[in-house]
Amino acid sequence: MDLIGPLGKPFHVSGQYKRIAVVGGGIGIFPLLYLLKEMKESDKSAFLGFRSSDYVVMTDEFEAASDRLSISTDDGSVGYKGIITDLLDKDIAERGFDIIYTCGPMPMIRKVKDMAQKAGIKCQVSLEQRMGCGIGACLVCACKTGKPDNWEYSHVCKDGPVFWSDEVILDD
Ligand code: FES
Repeated sequence: MDLIGPLGKPFHVSGQYKRIAVVGGGIGIFPLLYLLKEMKESDKSAFLGFRSSDYVVMTDEFEAASDRLSISTDDGSVGYKGIITDLLDKDIAERGFDIIYTCGPMPMIRKVKDMAQKAGIKCQVSLEQRMGCGIGACLVCACKTGKPDNWEYSHVCKDGPVFWSDEVILDD
């Protein structure tokens, strides 16, 4: 097997963020575990959403890496029944965060982006996309960046996969 890396741009890790939240859905949870481990000095809240108990993984690791862990499943077989952003919404109001990092399904990312924007909280999104080359040559992984009336194509592989939520356009 041939491997190249590291590629692309990572999450912004900084000691200036005292209270952080990570919001992950499905396979999008995995990069967030390593991010939590990097943010050593921060107060860390983790929010993980899954389809059902059959898909719930690595909760012990997230529990150890965070100060509090919230879990939801669509069918209520583990944790809160419903979508994970319901729990995030409650904590934004009660606790407040300096930054929210998110990775997972696009509807969840869109919702987290909107919630962060409304609350005036910084937000980084890590996008999932099909990739061919990983180095910006094949254009398989295009996404829109800029403002809705003045945007351009960027590469998730090279310019991301992590973007500031206010620089990326997440079309329906
Ligand atoms: S994967 Fe080829 S340009 Fe991004």
